[in-house]
Amino acid sequence: MTKEHIFSSTPGGRLSGDIRVPGDKSISHRSIMFGSLAEGVTEVEGFLEGEDSLATLAAFRRMGVAIEGPTQGRVTIHGVGMHGLRAPDSALDLGNSGTSMRLMAGLLSAQAFNTELTGDASLSRRPMRRVTQPLALMGARIETEATGTPPLRIQGRSPLRGIRYDMPVASAQVKSALLLAGLYADGETCVTEPAPTRDHTERMLTAFGYLVTRHHNTVCVKGGGRLNPTRIAIPADISSTAFFLVGAAIAPGSDATLTDVGINPTRIGVINILQLMGAHIDIVNKRMFGGEPVADLRVRAGTLKGIEIPIEQVPLAIDEFPALFIAAACAEGRTILTGAEELRVKESDRIQAMADGLRQLGITAEPTPDGIIIEGKGGIPAKGTDLKSAPENQTVFSGGEIDSHGDHRIAMAFAMAGLRAAGPLRIRDCKNVDTSFPGFVGLARKSGLNIKTQD
Ligand code: S3P
Repeated sequence: MTKEHIFSSTPGGRLSGDIRVPGDKSISHRSIMFGSLAEGVTEVEGFLEGEDSLATLAAFRRMGVAIEGPTQGRVTIHGVGMHGLRAPDSALDLGNSGTSMRLMAGLLSAQAFNTELTGDASLSRRPMRRVTQPLALMGARIETEATGTPPLRIQGRSPLRGIRYDMPVASAQVKSALLLAGLYADGETCVTEPAPTRDHTERMLTAFGYLVTRHHNTVCVKGGGRLNPTRIAIPADISSTAFFLVGAAIAPGSDATLTDVGINPTRIGVINILQLMGAHIDIVNKRMFGGEPVADLRVRAGTLKGIEIPIEQVPLAIDEFPALFIAAACAEGRTILTGAEELRVKESDRIQAMADGLRQLGITAEPTPDGIIIEGKGGIPAKGTDLKSAPENQTVFSGGEIDSHGDHRIAMAFAMAGLRAAGPLRIRDCKNVDTSFPGFVGLARKSGLNIKTQD
């Protein structure tokens, strides 16, 4: 694949049938980390074979952990115990993966060896002080560039002490980095979050038999415990599901069921927001996969309306805004997002990249420092309307060319916009879709989107 890897998404499709997207990225990362630190063999099913979680897997292999697979999502991890990791022979390259770097910063600051963590151009621009500063309060020694960005040079052999930390940003990555360091620290480490963020670390530590306590918005661990190996079944990633939820909600005639989707309450902002916009989403067949709730989501096309996105939903949908902005463009009336400045420091500046792309396709979209205002074009034909005789009802986006800025979620969001476009969309620089969603184009095509890749 070349850097110019292009998606071509053309109008006329609709989504239908059962769709099972790959495994959850956040949970996949954590399964490797905790499985590696456990004493014995952990079996994982449904592991995401995307570049980000594979970067974590490769890093732990390089620290001496024997890991078999992944083979069709199955991974067997021969855990080495809390103190069994070995020094890698050179820097660990974590590619595009912010989660790998931030969580490993916490874990590696407690090891008896030094490490250096590097990443690609996008990761090398991302802010790391949010983890290095509180870790320094625990006694960790980590150097960044003068700009607070990677590479991270982590000095091991630093005795860590537990702290109580009030997080200034609602970030599961920061919380998790501190809890990971806290497993090795003297005394108790407690993290207070300003708003609930994904709690996969807490749930998975508990599944590995580690005591995690929670009082209101504060979560604590004590250092010095051990992890017991376990079996982990990873649900389908709600963040990858989001593109199909939006695609089916906006494309006339769609009726699709997303199966085995993780519906952890700290991740379901996308469902809540789409439902507030009037989307038809039924949550059926609820069950548990290990410590995580799972369900099938049936979604049918219908009229959407613009809304003011409730601020408390923002951290619960933080990765799903590119897809939600496409839904907003297809809604009737204005959608206003505030309190989402974090979107500016993701794999790309997602507010700017989405505003630019939407404008390119004829949508009025005004970026603000902490969000965006999108004027929806609305309109979905009533059931039974002959679309061929009224194609203008269906069209929201003009055709055209868009730059994904190498951001997987921007690329997939605009791919779905093709369902309501007047002409073909060419989306550039889509290679990084493989970081979170290998097989996206094939699955989307099978589900009814007219999409292909052009190199
Ligand atoms: C993640 C947390 C979120 C999210 C990222 C994955 C995690 O980042 O955007 O894709 O697995 O902990 P922040 O915690 O920085 O918001």
